Amino acid sequence: MEHTIQDLYSAENQILEALPQLISKAQSSQLRQAFEQHQRQTEKHVQRLEQVAKQLDIDPDGETCMAMQGLIEEAQDLLDQLDGDEITDAALIGAAQKVEHYEIASYGTARTLAQQAGQGQIADLLQQTLDEEKQTDEKLTEIATTKANQKAVKA
Ligand SMILES: [Fe+2]
Repeated sequence: MEHTIQDLYSAENQILEALPQLISKAQSSQLRQAFEQHQRQTEKHVQRLEQVAKQLDIDPDGETCMAMQGLIEEAQDLLDQLDGDEITDAALIGAAQKVEHYEIASYGTARTLAQQAGQGQIADLLQQTLDEEKQTDEKLTEIATTKANQKAVKA
């Protein structure tokens, strides 16, 4: 449990650091707004993890999420190759969804561990974030299928 929370804390902070770049590269206002909204949510996710750590009486710092480091590095490589052309939004969405799916998996695990440990309040906090990650993932799919991918397929 401690490891999972510290891993997520590292992952969320890395995402907070990377989001301004994704926002600045987004071509459509719809995608930019989705990232901006997710930035505000991510700030809340960090706070919730701090709350969880406090309740568990652990330090949220202490791990570096290597998986998130890799996902962000990969996204940056891709973006360097794609500056501002038609497939940029589709590429941004693809990279962001990999991040969301990693978070969905990790929060799902952490939530279940908390439930099984009889930590209902912690499970609820983790579930709230899990729900927001899922909503973000769905919104990104919607933007991709209605707009970004069509442009990318034509390009
Ligand atoms: Fe998050």
